Amino acid sequence: MKAVAGLLLMFGVCHGVETYCDGRQDGAQCYGALGGTVDIQLMDSTSEIPRIQLLKNSLVILFVRNNKVISNTIKHRSLLFPSNGTFKINNLSRNDSGNYSFITFNSDGKASDEQTLHLFVQAPVSSALLVSECLSQGEMRVSCSSEGGDSPQYSWTLDGRTLTDAELLSVNNESNIITLRQHVSGRLVCSVRNSVSSVSKEERISTCGHLPLIGGVLSALVFFIVVGVAVICAQRKKQNNKPTKQKEDDQEVTYADVRVMKQQGKRVEQTAQAEAEVEYGQVKFSKRPRHTELRGDDCMYAKVHKVR
Ligand SMILES: *[C@@H]1O[C@H](CO)[C@@H](O)[C@H](O)[C@H]1NC(C)=O
Ligand SMILES: *[C@@H]1O[C@H](CO)[C@@H](O)[C@H](O)[C@H]1NC(C)=O
Repeated sequence: MKAVAGLLLMFGVCHGVETYCDGRQDGAQCYGALGGTVDIQLMDSTSEIPRIQLLKNSLVILFVRNNKVISNTIKHRSLLFPSNGTFKINNLSRNDSGNYSFITFNSDGKASDEQTLHLFVQAPVSSALLVSECLSQGEMRVSCSSEGGDSPQYSWTLDGRTLTDAELLSVNNESNIITLRQHVSGRLVCSVRNSVSSVSKEERISTCGHLPLIGGVLSALVFFIVVGVAVICAQRKKQNNKPTKQKEDDQEVTYADVRVMKQQGKRVEQTAQAEAEVEYGQVKFSKRPRHTELRGDDCMYAKVHKVR
């Protein structure tokens, strides 16, 4: 456990992100999460050391003599554990970033050892969002965006493995936008991480290829409909110019009137007025002589008209 170099990430409920840093090697790089906690291991144990000092950017922040804390400028949110040589800092702020020096002294007051470390405080990545869109040639462009985090790094997998050149057409500089070739499908995962956190978002993608195809079929269909309508219109025009088609035209006029009178009947809910108009329309446009076929309906209309 103590030999582990690097970071252990733990996600606490109330203290935010907790990170561990092994500062026993000189020049270590440590990362802490904004608002979180960092455990910096300075030594295996400081119990036997007569005096220790921890400096941040050349200012002493912690001074311990014979296991007694003489001064600690961030006492309210930090703690030294002499048994495992760990210095814990809570509620990290960006001001905590900087160069730290850890100096040990022997009993005669001479510095016996000094090591340095750099602490970087980063805002954790909170969430990721995937947006995919089909391009005209059936490629798919997928963008991954994250909220908050400092220096986010993006990586992608498809069905649990890295994308191959056969699947990947292009990747942008930040690698948060990728373009997949045609006919690529599966479970696509975007992972966003920085040194203190990581989140991922997955989406099941299916091939874009059929969409442009449907588009093509639809445009062809629209084209043929337009051409067809144009041809029919042209033919109609020709027919209208011929005077011999008189009878057909008459029938059309009558038919059109029937539609109009139905709509009126519905709209006015068959008031006497509407019915009277219906009668009027029939008389006007049907070429049939009025007296030939008097059906029951016609008689009723006639009565209504009289009442008005
Ligand atoms: C150091 O000891 C303290 C107190 O026993 C414990 O809470 C902490 O987790 C330890 N840290 C490490 C890095 O072992
Ligand atoms: C953490 O620090 C911020 C300022 O850096 C402060 O406003 C906040 O109250 C602190 N929270 C706790 C729990 O100490």
